[in-house]
Amino acid sequence: MTSATLNSIEKREAIISACLEMNRSGINQGTSGNISVRDGDGMLITPTSLPYNEMTVDDIVWMGFDGARNGGRRPSSEWQFHLDIMMAKPEVGAIVHAHPTAATTLSIMEKSIPPLHYMIAICGGSDIRCAPYATFGTKELSESALKALDGRSACLLGHHGMIATGNSLSKAMWLAVEVETLAKQYLGCLPFGEPPLLSEEEIQNVISRMAGYGHGG
Ligand code: 13P
Repeated sequence: MTSATLNSIEKREAIISACLEMNRSGINQGTSGNISVRDGDGMLITPTSLPYNEMTVDDIVWMGFDGARNGGRRPSSEWQFHLDIMMAKPEVGAIVHAHPTAATTLSIMEKSIPPLHYMIAICGGSDIRCAPYATFGTKELSESALKALDGRSACLLGHHGMIATGNSLSKAMWLAVEVETLAKQYLGCLPFGEPPLLSEEEIQNVISRMAGYGHGG
């Protein structure tokens, strides 16, 4: 089911269960992540600093692309990049931001993930870029993230964490796990030196094959 087919209450419930899943699976710790889902002329986003196991549907904040806001709680401190990504990329239906250990370790080292495994292609190209550091919650961070997301569905944020996007919340959650897996694989290789890489041509070949992969629909 895509986010466009869910009503607002279902979207709010889906956001809360994704938050809980994010911590259960270990891709996030505490309340350091945040999630948004496109909703009409705006988005639904997690409130700032509220433990996920205390979150109710009424705590999720609606923010319009025109700056309107609806809800009793303050939105995530990272609302700026969620909003800017949604506005810049109409194909994005949901955004997951988290601080997974392996991806964050690479981001601390200011390292992008190179084409070490063909699965890198699921992010849209031959690398997962690491955006230069900017302070959390700033327009500067949002601009840095948008550049790193050019032609990509995920990126690392220098000295911070990771962003994964998808046309639905389940796709964005799936991608977040895959990015963390690629980060773990890269970290596993590094003690042996920089790994041999796949060519740009092969990554493009994989992208074409992936378009016809699976059960369709
Ligand atoms: P929020 O609790 O405000 O969503 O912030 C957590 C975070 O990830 C900051 O980068």
